[in-house]
Amino acid sequence: MNLLKNRIVNEGVALTENILKVDSFLNHQLDPNLMHEVAKEFAHRFEGKGVTKILTIEASGIAPAIMLGYIMQLPVVFIKKKKPSTMENMLEAQVYSFTKQSENTVSISRDFLSADDNIVFIDDFLASGNAVRGVIDICGQVGAKIEALGFVIEKGFQGGGDKLRQEGYRVESLAIVDSLENGEVIFRD
Ligand code: G4P
Repeated sequence: MNLLKNRIVNEGVALTENILKVDSFLNHQLDPNLMHEVAKEFAHRFEGKGVTKILTIEASGIAPAIMLGYIMQLPVVFIKKKKPSTMENMLEAQVYSFTKQSENTVSISRDFLSADDNIVFIDDFLASGNAVRGVIDICGQVGAKIEALGFVIEKGFQGGGDKLRQEGYRVESLAIVDSLENGEVIFRD
């Protein structure tokens, strides 16, 4: 998606050889017009697949997910990173954060996910794929089908996406970054 790639090149900062900062449109300030274009592209890729629900994880996945839910007229559910004290009947999974080097419990109410669901999971970044493993775990607990996994930016060099593709998951990333060496963003073709 060239519009997105141009924004990454013009506004992204390679903080290290592993971390791409895109705070001006995705991770802090949000650009609704860009999110709309991102969501239109996802909708185009996922239309006609019998998707019942968009799943994401807080916080940065919510912006593209809600836009996609609006376009596809589907409910959007975000997986919570902190266990809510007021909620019972939760599904839980452990997610290891490579960036933060810690294990976290993520959760979602059983009220909003069932075996009747055909899910598209949306997130801002795909790195090693640890968050996705938690989502796969949670969907497996209730027998929800995962139709596809959609990411705004995939860091191809961290291998999470290719492993998921090898396992048979449909992974759709709108920009795949293959290298951030020397502060330069190199995309996969
Ligand atoms: P993984 O799930 O793919 O394995 O990712 P990892 O544990 O490495 O990442 C943990 C968090 O860091 C995730 O957000 C992920 O989106 C984000 N992240 C990973 N690599 C990058 C990067 O190069 N740039 C930016 N900007 N973020 C990255 P999170 O902690 O859950 O935060 P948020 O969704 O609340 O923003």
